[in-house]
Amino acid sequence: MSTAKITLDELPLRDELRGEVPYGAPQLDVPVQLNVNENPYGPSAAVVADIAAAVTVAARTLNRYPDRDAIALRSDLAAYLGPDLSADEVWAANGSNEIMLQLLSAFGGPGRTALSFAPTYSMYPEYARDTHTDWLLGQRREDFTVDPEHAVALIGEHAPSVVFLASPNNPTGTALPLDVIEAICAAAPGIVVVDEAYAEFRRSGVPSALTLLPRHPRLVVTRTMSKAFALAGGRLGYLAAAPAVVDAVRIVRLPYHLSTMSQVVARVALAHADELLARVDELRAERDATVAWLRGVGLQAADSDSNFVLFGTFDDRHAVWQDLLDRGVLIRETGPDGWLRVSIGTAEEMAAFRSALKEVQRVSIAGPPAARGAERVDDERSREEQGAL
Ligand SMILES: Cc1ncc(COP(=O)(O)O)c(C=O)c1O
Repeated sequence: MSTAKITLDELPLRDELRGEVPYGAPQLDVPVQLNVNENPYGPSAAVVADIAAAVTVAARTLNRYPDRDAIALRSDLAAYLGPDLSADEVWAANGSNEIMLQLLSAFGGPGRTALSFAPTYSMYPEYARDTHTDWLLGQRREDFTVDPEHAVALIGEHAPSVVFLASPNNPTGTALPLDVIEAICAAAPGIVVVDEAYAEFRRSGVPSALTLLPRHPRLVVTRTMSKAFALAGGRLGYLAAAPAVVDAVRIVRLPYHLSTMSQVVARVALAHADELLARVDELRAERDATVAWLRGVGLQAADSDSNFVLFGTFDDRHAVWQDLLDRGVLIRETGPDGWLRVSIGTAEEMAAFRSALKEVQRVSIAGPPAARGAERVDDERSREEQGAL
């Protein structure tokens, strides 16, 4: 039996969804995958064994719905974040993507506005669209930081119900100073979400917005286990905020949204936090080395507090992206015009990235920083220079 024939255009799709395509980077099976900011290190045999054992036990209870409040998991997450937080100040969902959607379901909606600052995470406008929330985009400065005066002015003019601040930001890697976040919290009439998906990769001395929670009742800090915890496949994101914020989100969550298996797997991962996070220092060192190498060969690379680096600039970034892909290295074509983003992989993967980039004839190492990397290199002398990349 097959289904009746109908096209998307013939369906009563919401008007604002017409012509839209599903979000997502290409999932290509290539040797070096550095495009979605995953952690390159899979779990150790010991962690795999513990997950398998816990899943086996949980499987016996799968006839029952999960704990819809995920209390045990939220206690573990609170303990991971710090001694002063408790389960009623933490909420968990299927990735921080679902957390954001829940926040907009509770605090956005028709006649309300969500604000962020470009360039930033490209999913925010989609959450706004899906919750019928108006979307407003300010601009980051040239160094990708947020100008508090610009932010406060936009907030004053538009009174957004929700402000999204990714820190460290995707795709630029930029962490925001706490005084900028505090200025925005002071001005904002609604919720301020600091999306700390990459928090564990911050350079030393860069603070987390968690420290601001006691002072700002409408501040929400979101985190994920997809990155530092190497649990992207487990789909576990969470937030820390005042209990009232958690209560608001609980109103809009689907019943039993977080499966028994998700809860169990995340708890095992948290129990192995030391081991799983041990690789974070390696990745941070690899990231710093990548920034230094890119700058050393005459390209621009944004300062990064995350597990990826935005670099460029290129006249034809798509061509560079394609040339790298042709050499088995998949990175991300995202961010402002001319820039590309590479996620930090293993030392071997980063060596493959560097040697592929060296071969890419479009990359020039000549010229001062402002004029860098734009032109196609065809002459013999430039090819020699390329060899030195
Ligand atoms: C800034 C930012 N926030 C949130 C997410 C969502 O992560 P997840 O849904 O896997 O927790 C990502 C994923 O790349 C991200 O870059």
